[in-house]
Amino acid sequence: MSGAHALPEPPVPRTRAAPIYAVASGKGGVGKTWISTMLSTAFGRAGQRALLVDCDLGLANVDVQLGVRPQADVHSVVRGFLELESAVTPIMGGPGRNGGFDLIAGHSGSGALGAVKLEEVARIANGLNKLTPHYDRVILDLAAGIDPTVLRFARAAERLILVTTEEPTALTDAYAMVKLLRLQGSSVVPWVIVNMAENRVKGRKVFDQFAMACNEYLGFKPRFAGAISRDPRVPDSIRAQTPLPVRHPQSQAYEDIIRIVETLNAG
Ligand SMILES: Nc1ncnc2c1ncn2[C@@H]1O[C@H](COP(=O)(O)OP(=O)(O)OP(=O)(O)O)[C@@H](O)[C@H]1O
Ligand SMILES: [Mg+2]
Repeated sequence: MSGAHALPEPPVPRTRAAPIYAVASGKGGVGKTWISTMLSTAFGRAGQRALLVDCDLGLANVDVQLGVRPQADVHSVVRGFLELESAVTPIMGGPGRNGGFDLIAGHSGSGALGAVKLEEVARIANGLNKLTPHYDRVILDLAAGIDPTVLRFARAAERLILVTTEEPTALTDAYAMVKLLRLQGSSVVPWVIVNMAENRVKGRKVFDQFAMACNEYLGFKPRFAGAISRDPRVPDSIRAQTPLPVRHPQSQAYEDIIRIVETLNAG
């Protein structure tokens, strides 16, 4: 499962490069990394080739959640040892209808990045454009917080997926993230996911309150990507380092993910 591989040739000439989705939240621990891996899986099952990039350079853990040991990572890229293309690790056989995808890991055990300079982040962000012609969807799993490196990655993406929970602190941090991006000149209209919701109706209500605040104070309406139920099968599958739909073919949380992918694809 690990090891760099040559990027596949695009099967047909693509008319446009893959859109880049940044998965961000402000608040930590709301489910960004798990949602990023599940969106990559669900895009694959829907017939779209996905690339997931772990942009949480300080505490990278996509590879840990997936139980893979990548031999290449963005560390090599930012230090100039490898081109981004050579840093790809195929997950579950690589992009395909079985739910596989490609990963650019945050670290390979070759040493944590520690403090990452903003120009190094800019280098990775700029390198992403070279990869988009090879994929249908590119997903960036961002770190928590709203520091300049996180915002730089968010600005590299044309689409923003804001993850929040029903907790007021998660909502205010998500709001702060989009407000800062707007202050920096971004005109992005975020998709919002309400994760760990008690149920879909409550998740929608939380979104409506968030949307009202954005509309009133920032002058735009975010879009509702969907709610994901709190589901004990999620931590169970993470502990087992096995993708949720493989470990639990029937789960509310993965059903919610499929619904979200349909919404994103329709929008
Ligand atoms: N829908 C859900 N139902 C139950 N538990 C969930 C759900 N989504 C995420 N979790 C749990 O929340 C924990 C945090 O998830 P994750 O690591 O993806 O968050 P994160 O936002 O990426 O965190 P960080 O900010 O540290 O990067 C996971 O251990 C997972 O078990
Ligand atoms: Mg994370």
